[in-house]
Amino acid sequence: MENITVAGTGYVGLVTGVCLAEMGHKVTCVDYVREKIELLEQGISPIYEPQLDNLIVNNLESGNIKFTTDYKNTYSQSDIIFIGVGTPENEDGSANLNFVYTVARQIAESVTQDCIVVIKSTVPIGTNDRLEEYIQQHLKCDVKVEVASNPEFLAQGTAVKDTLNASRIIVGAESEHVKTILTDVYKPFNQPILTMDRRSAEMVKYASNDFLALKISFVNDIANLCEVVGADIENVTKGMSYDDRIGQKFLNAGIGYGGSCFPKDTKALHWLSEEEGYVLRTVKAAIEVNEKQKFKLIKKARKDFSSFEGLKIAVLGLTFKPGTDDLREAPSIPNIRLLLNEGATIHAYDPVGTENFQKIHPNNITYATTVEDALENADMCFIFTEWEEIKNIEPDTFLREMKTPFIYDGRNCFNIYDLQGKGINYYSIGRPDIKEFTRQPEITY
Ligand SMILES: NC(=O)c1ccc[n+]([C@@H]2O[C@H](COP(=O)([O-])OP(=O)(O)OC[C@H]3O[C@@H](n4cnc5c(N)ncnc54)[C@H](O)[C@@H]3O)[C@@H](O)[C@H]2O)c1
Repeated sequence: MENITVAGTGYVGLVTGVCLAEMGHKVTCVDYVREKIELLEQGISPIYEPQLDNLIVNNLESGNIKFTTDYKNTYSQSDIIFIGVGTPENEDGSANLNFVYTVARQIAESVTQDCIVVIKSTVPIGTNDRLEEYIQQHLKCDVKVEVASNPEFLAQGTAVKDTLNASRIIVGAESEHVKTILTDVYKPFNQPILTMDRRSAEMVKYASNDFLALKISFVNDIANLCEVVGADIENVTKGMSYDDRIGQKFLNAGIGYGGSCFPKDTKALHWLSEEEGYVLRTVKAAIEVNEKQKFKLIKKARKDFSSFEGLKIAVLGLTFKPGTDDLREAPSIPNIRLLLNEGATIHAYDPVGTENFQKIHPNNITYATTVEDALENADMCFIFTEWEEIKNIEPDTFLREMKTPFIYDGRNCFNIYDLQGKGINYYSIGRPDIKEFTRQPEITY
């Protein structure tokens, strides 16, 4: 049995490592952040991801998983090293590969036996080829290191489930030997395994994410048009979804995609295509629609409120989507910044994202511990994340708690027919507005 190592214990690295261990492999996870490793050694996940804690504890107990910061010793004894470190966005939109190259250098300088380096991080087309060359150039021992592409498709919030029941595993390698070894590693998962060349594997990842981003932006574009022509996007997408060729998923209108992947992966592919002299028009359009969509609620609110100065605003939902504590590219961030800059007071509630949001705004936001706390005496409410708890709020709660129940819902959490006739003003995306009262101007003497 091979010694497997995973570099990086974030959403991808940790979940990959834990699930490989769950399948019976011996896995060591490496991270340079000591606090993360200390938590993991105690069986505590540093990230919020359903089912993850249990699997960490079980596999620590069975001895299938270990956590360490000692990369040198670990890489030197590894047969297969998965790299799952971040590839954030550079200012110009291109992918920043510094973390990946740092690990590649550490591997090259540590390995003492032949091994396979598997790139799970999302990297631009051609990176695997270049990384193999780079590692060869920096080797300290006379060994053979082959690089394979194995892009990851898990979604945050369902990362464990997605990994244990993946739709497909993509293995991009240039030798049959590497394809065979990685196919064996993944055999216990009992999932479709597609082997191919490295560049195609790298492209599968970008094409898949960018297609999903495009689907979201398309629906948002149509939703905006629905508002203009008096149609209801929920009826429209329901009607579309019965067509198998379209499918039911990723048809929800809202204030756009966020997260650690879609924004950067659309920009990175667009950047790369321009570098190659090709304009990827569809992806460019997806990016543009998403940028505008982010501020859609504030645009709507300005119709009732000439200024946000001095208003108490309840914010429900901070994370970029439900099921995660991740705030990367969450629409809540630029919206709240704008509202604060215009003099509003923010009372925010999120079931799991508050702790991370406090790192961005430690002092100038009041963090509520319940939905009711956030809504109490508020002039208006913005909804940025469709947590189940938020979708289950009864209309009476808005009426009872708020000063004036103006609801701006960026995730279409409620059925508009349930809110009609309740004395609430409710604005969502791509659906008719409910306007049941007019705001009385404040009288100042
Ligand atoms: N998050 C997702 O949903 C998702 C899904 C599919 C693919 N991806 C891709 O996977 C990659 C990782 O994403 P993520 O969200 O897991 O990132 P992350 O930021 O959550 O985790 C990266 C981890 O790598 C660690 N790290 C950095 N340098 C290191 C080094 N030299 N040695 C050891 N550890 C190191 C960091 O400390 C961190 O724990 C990215 O390329 C991303 O695009 C992410």
